Amino acid sequence: MKPKLLRSLAALRRETSAWRREGLTYAVVPTMGAIHSGHTGLVAAGRERADRVITTIFVNPKQFAANEDLGKYPRDEEGDVRKLGKAGSHAIYLPGPQDMYPQGFSTTVSLAGPAKAGLEDKFRPQFFDGVATVVAKLFIQTGADYAMFGEKDYQQLKVVTRMAKDLDLPIEVIGIPTVREEDGLAKSSRNVYLSKSERQQALAIYRNLVNAADRIRAGVNPQTATRSATRTLMALGFKVDYVSARNAETLAIPQHRDEPMRLIAAAWLGKTRLIDNIPV
Ligand code: PAF
Repeated sequence: MKPKLLRSLAALRRETSAWRREGLTYAVVPTMGAIHSGHTGLVAAGRERADRVITTIFVNPKQFAANEDLGKYPRDEEGDVRKLGKAGSHAIYLPGPQDMYPQGFSTTVSLAGPAKAGLEDKFRPQFFDGVATVVAKLFIQTGADYAMFGEKDYQQLKVVTRMAKDLDLPIEVIGIPTVREEDGLAKSSRNVYLSKSERQQALAIYRNLVNAADRIRAGVNPQTATRSATRTLMALGFKVDYVSARNAETLAIPQHRDEPMRLIAAAWLGKTRLIDNIPV
């Protein structure tokens, strides 16, 4: 399939208005490009939900810190369009900076709740305000019925879900389970940076999460289970940013055993930062 390329907000609105006139539903898959199998899985999930899928590609400067090199973010429009076409995305929205942040732009979505859980936000303090601002704009600009987000970035999923609810944005945010390699390692564009031996070691994150979840289900205190997972990972050579049991919706520290829980982890293996999460 050859997706329609929509390079301005005006072109996007023409296309989505035509879909609405035909009575079609549509899903949006927000991305920053560098399309991989995680994204194409979201497109496939969008196709199952809605009549049309629109993928957005915009490298959002507002979610990069001063020390993170926005200019070095991988850009490959031709490759991305080919992969998204193969996955069945009907249209691709490629807004210019003037469509997203025109001169004088001065509004930022300011977050609390899951965005201030002390997980990713502890390491990238301004990240989620930048994400929420661009995602709110993409939801409003596309007017989509559904938004597809991967569970791999679990905190991001919960932040945009809460934001859409709080701002009464008429869109349903849908979390899609993490795609895993055969042995269980979460698929990630960063896995290519792992050496052969690191690739073997990397699996320990998922294995330790599964083990901690089993122990919690068997009655072990969540703090005890996650602390021992942290110690095991450190002993294996990981630099652990966090392994934490959280309420699956609010991301607060669970207060009761019967709350829905999620185990969330981030750790460095050499120069590669890996994240993963699983339900308890
Ligand atoms: O997950 C991403 O790629 C980005 O954070 C998103 C949601 C496209 C916002 O820029």
